[in-house]
Amino acid sequence: MATKQSKPSLKPRRRDKFAFGIWCVMNQGADPFGVATRPQITGLEAVKGLGKRGVYGFEYHDNDLWPLKASAAKQRAVVKDVKRIMRTTGIRCTAATTNLFTHPAFKDGAFTSHDPKVRAYAVQKAMVNIDVAAELGARVYIFWGGREGADVDIAKDPVEALKRFRDCINFLSEYVLEQKHRMVFSIEPKPNEPRSDTYLPTAGHALAMIATLDHPEMVGVNPETAHIKMAGLNPLHEFAQCLEAGKLVDIHLNGQKPLRYDQDMSFGCDNPKEALLVVKLLKDYAYAGTKTFDAHPYRTEADPWDFVERCMRAYKAYEIKAEQADADATLCRMLEQLERTGGASWARLLGAYSAAGAEKLRKAKFNPDKLAKRKLLYEQIDQRLTEILLGLV
Ligand code: NOJ
Ligand code: MG
Repeated sequence: MATKQSKPSLKPRRRDKFAFGIWCVMNQGADPFGVATRPQITGLEAVKGLGKRGVYGFEYHDNDLWPLKASAAKQRAVVKDVKRIMRTTGIRCTAATTNLFTHPAFKDGAFTSHDPKVRAYAVQKAMVNIDVAAELGARVYIFWGGREGADVDIAKDPVEALKRFRDCINFLSEYVLEQKHRMVFSIEPKPNEPRSDTYLPTAGHALAMIATLDHPEMVGVNPETAHIKMAGLNPLHEFAQCLEAGKLVDIHLNGQKPLRYDQDMSFGCDNPKEALLVVKLLKDYAYAGTKTFDAHPYRTEADPWDFVERCMRAYKAYEIKAEQADADATLCRMLEQLERTGGASWARLLGAYSAAGAEKLRKAKFNPDKLAKRKLLYEQIDQRLTEILLGLV
């Protein structure tokens, strides 16, 4: 007789550490071909709405909360209100960032603009918000390229642009250290849009830039699913490379069809296997940061709240499937078989370099035909995962 199993819960818990960019719920559905389809909600309403739904954290741009030209007094009043909402709902501010892309002053970039005054203004704007972010308890400060890129390649030297970007990050790192803020920086790569090409287009580019900074130890990466897929790359591999480098400080999750405009669809709506494997990676490697959704509701939605519930529910659903995959005896057996190598051990064959080891290797005998005969179970493994995902096993 079948035993009745309790249905796993898709209800988000604080310990899931789900977060949203407030700009996602403030999004009104406008696109280059059509006007807004939803009423505007303010930044404060966004924080409150997320807090009321049990979301662990929020991320914001300075101008999601106060207008660009707001007085210091107005800004203080907003910060006071945000803190009140945080107290009453329990939501945390997990990351912050600067809007360095909306105002026409930044039409040719911010940190990489030709104009030193624009660069200085951009750094000043970041400094102001870094202080607010620290006050709100944010531990991550994001630098997304935005308009840091080019449309006319002959008109902007990309080597010079990267140097300018580095100078600004170095300046801000010293500022954070001097202020004794407990905060790390995070570079968010994106290949293009709104510029034809954005500098630091992928995680690999960001990691290479980080290694050249004055304080590489205080800078990480927050890869975003959509940005990765716009470049035709694999989110699992990009997330994994940041993780392996110890640089995965935040993540932006969403859905995206490859090689298209920035679609920012809800997490996991487009490629279930890919979403499952990202969730499994984060679980397997005990990723401890926030799981931030950076997407927006379909333009056809009347309000953002079904979308918010859906992203968290989707993540939980993929987590259940990842656990099922981990516990599936058939899948485990096939994966183990793949790993089994007839007693060969890397340490014994090669290991770390030594002159003697190299000499031994030179004399070793390999039979490539025999090596090629090994049966690899990839078709079966992949199909098993498909059936787990579809609820057939
Ligand atoms: C808006 C971008 O669309 C998003 O991907 C990014 O994370 C935020 N800005 C942060 O700057
Ligand atoms: Mg993002």
